[in-house]
Amino acid sequence: MTVFMNHTHTDVGAGGALGFLWMGSHVKSRDEQGAQDMIQRVVVISATWAIMLAMISKGMIMAHTSPSGYQRADIVPLPQPHYDGKVSVESALCQRRSVRAYTEAPLTIDEVAQLVWAAQGITHADGLRTAPSAGALYPLRVSLVVGNVQTLSQGIYTYRPDKHELVRVIEGDKRAELSAAALEQSWVGHSAVVIVLSALYERTTARYGERGIRYVHMEVGHAAQNIQLQAVSLNLGTVVVGAFDDRKVQRIMQMTTRELPLSLMPVGRIP
Ligand SMILES: Cc1cc2nc3c(=O)[nH]c(=O)nc-3n(C[C@H](O)[C@H](O)[C@H](O)COP(=O)(O)O)c2cc1C
Repeated sequence: MTVFMNHTHTDVGAGGALGFLWMGSHVKSRDEQGAQDMIQRVVVISATWAIMLAMISKGMIMAHTSPSGYQRADIVPLPQPHYDGKVSVESALCQRRSVRAYTEAPLTIDEVAQLVWAAQGITHADGLRTAPSAGALYPLRVSLVVGNVQTLSQGIYTYRPDKHELVRVIEGDKRAELSAAALEQSWVGHSAVVIVLSALYERTTARYGERGIRYVHMEVGHAAQNIQLQAVSLNLGTVVVGAFDDRKVQRIMQMTTRELPLSLMPVGRIP
């Protein structure tokens, strides 16, 4: 009988330690060893997946922090934002009002790209953004509940500032559900798109502790004001909606309980 000493369990990577526990006998036939290696691999891969799925379901891994798993078909590259406009900052500040009535006309993808860029777009080679962030930790996420945007199918999208692109995470028109979750505020359901600003507090509290909560709330205000001023510049209407059921919005948006929605901003054309 040929004897085979197995010294290499490192090829199972992170499962190496688990593999070590599996080593019963140190001297085996090649066939026995091959079968045992195969079983070890299957067990290690299955265990790794089970642990990862459990972590995702418990919110220990945020779906949007690992977007590389998204299908290419769900990624929507956005047109480059414009860096100048016809409305001065002073004029936009004077004109800004909460607008709660919109026409049925769709928004364009350029307008949507401009709005998400205003909220959290990258404006510096070091990854700094349009809105300030404590410690440049960027705990905010910008999502879109799309209902009536040219060339963009209905659904829920998340904005990736680093790539200036959208990733579709849910299909279908979710505006009515979102309106119901926002205490039936009809402007949420009748807008062309709802911009949802949410936060992963841990990104900021991990460094700043309790005070980080305050920082996150300040940051969502900065982003919301950027969106409001950009909307004025595009002659679009929007309003900050803070009255909604957190749990219901989390469920619609498929957020974990560790991500909190903070502002809903319906946007549409002004009548
Ligand atoms: C934190 C916050 C929460 C708000 N929540 C709502 C809301 O749930 N629904 C709504 O219609 N307006 C909401 N608003 C908009 C205010 O009603 C509005 O800003 C205020 O009436 C002043 O009017 P103006 O924005 O036109 O200046 C909110 C504004 C802020 C800053």
